Amino acid sequence: MKKVIYYFSGTGNSLRTAVRIAEKIGGAELINVKSDPADVSADDADMIGIVCPVYEWDIPGRVRDFLEQLSLDPKAYIFMVVTYIAVLGKSFETAEAILEKKGAHLSYGRAIRCVASQCIAYPPFPPEKLMIPFMERQIEAAGNEIMLKKQRSFPPMSPITRRRFDKVMGPYLAVESEYDKGFYTDEKCSGCGTCARVCPTRNIEIKDKKPVWNHHCHGCNACVVYCPTRAVQFRTPKAYRELDTMISKMLRLPEKRKRYHHPMIKAKDMMKDRIDISDKKK
Ligand SMILES: Cc1cc2nc3c(=O)[nH]c(=O)nc-3n(C[C@H](O)[C@H](O)[C@H](O)COP(=O)(O)O)c2cc1C
Repeated sequence: MKKVIYYFSGTGNSLRTAVRIAEKIGGAELINVKSDPADVSADDADMIGIVCPVYEWDIPGRVRDFLEQLSLDPKAYIFMVVTYIAVLGKSFETAEAILEKKGAHLSYGRAIRCVASQCIAYPPFPPEKLMIPFMERQIEAAGNEIMLKKQRSFPPMSPITRRRFDKVMGPYLAVESEYDKGFYTDEKCSGCGTCARVCPTRNIEIKDKKPVWNHHCHGCNACVVYCPTRAVQFRTPKAYRELDTMISKMLRLPEKRKRYHHPMIKAKDMMKDRIDISDKKK
């Protein structure tokens, strides 16, 4: 049986989720959605996974575009697992609507709570020490069910979120592609190009040994958190300043902003276009 999981990840939570599910289901090919969908079709796959974070109460734009262009077998068992912190919004509905146009459906949907890793907007929370073991337990549960090809209806968007989507998300979505205007490097930048290679939207080019951001950013923070010399700095986008202050005060988060990425996912993993997870019978 051919199993393929398409993933998007900025700070490693979703990649860790994809790797662990692949291990649980007896191996799978993991494909980064920064690939060209035409080169990585799922026409001959019996089990197809989509694993990505929730961004702005939805799935990241790159995942949406990728799914729209992906060719697949509508009879396949299709699962989607998203990583998030609090609000799922229309993530599953968006994916299901795209699949429906291809005559396909989500057989299984599950959301995994993780460390909120949007450090350009607010400090990471809750603490890693609590969340990583909790996250692993949630992934185990998902992996066990997917292995058995269980059917699971995906969590719907809550009525409150639906009513407030445009009003609350509008200001963020309007400036999303320009988050990277707040990125810059300091004197520690060695021009190594890690930022360009970990970027899941291929938004960064290295010119004269310095990164140049090309404004099709999703604000995923990969360039910030995986920079080996911590040379990538950022200014919090205007749309986030109030939210940042509110969350930081409410949760009493420290002023010093940790550059969180999932501890088991390293820059070299993030750079890959494909990862083959073989059957390790876990
Ligand atoms: C740009 C951006 C937008 C986000 N929007 C949401 C959101 O709407 N709801 C939510 O619960 N979490 C949101 N988060 C938190 C992420 O979903 C969460 O940290 C996720 O696990 C990150 O996955 P990754 O490590 O694979 O990149 C957002 C994070 C980023 C970077």
